Amino acid sequence: MKSMKKLNIILFFLWCILLINLVKVNASPLTSCLSSIKGQTVYPNNKTFPSLILDENLYVNYTPSVLIYAANNQDVQTSINCATKLKMDITARSGGHSYEKYGLGGRNNVMVVDLTNINEITIDSKAKTAKIGAGNRLGVIYDKLSQAGFLIPAGTCPSVGIGGHALGGVNIKLLNHSFSNI
Ligand SMILES: *[C@@H]1O[C@H](CO)[C@@H](O)[C@H](O)[C@H]1NC(C)=O
Ligand SMILES: *[C@@H]1O[C@H](CO)[C@@H](O)[C@H](O)[C@H]1NC(C)=O
Repeated sequence: MKSMKKLNIILFFLWCILLINLVKVNASPLTSCLSSIKGQTVYPNNKTFPSLILDENLYVNYTPSVLIYAANNQDVQTSINCATKLKMDITARSGGHSYEKYGLGGRNNVMVVDLTNINEITIDSKAKTAKIGAGNRLGVIYDKLSQAGFLIPAGTCPSVGIGGHALGGVNIKLLNHSFSNI
């Protein structure tokens, strides 16, 4: 009986040490720097992570260091500050439509700021202008704009994000890559 009790006490202490270690591992410089983010932060050890970095091109894929679903501008600022402080690469993902995975930074270990939730659309009919959040997809934009009697000519694929599309950078890079491969 006595030795059983001793064993229990030893096991208890072992548990405590193990738990303390786990807590230490979780509080990496990255997680603690991003702790004030209001949106979701998804790390590679999360079960849903692999499904969040897939698109139609299964031949090319990269593993980001973290996916940050920015809830507002402050989250984007915090992410950029953390990337600067920790000397990490950072990229924005709007629709994630780059087959060469520029939405994931085009390489491993990039901090990805997903803009899906930056999706306000404000239309000023008088001024004929619209303020469109960078996470909006073309389908939704066409729908909202047409209800107000407007249209932008941007292509037929409804799931393309306006962020990358408006910048045009992804297309230019893709073209450049295919030309330099020829
Ligand atoms: C994993 O990510 C999902 C979002 O895709 C989130 O709801 C969940 O809380 C995360 N789990 C952990 C353990 O962080
Ligand atoms: C295009 O590709 C070439 C060769 O790979 C590179 O030198 C050049 O900087 C690229 N241009 C742009 C605009 O990315």
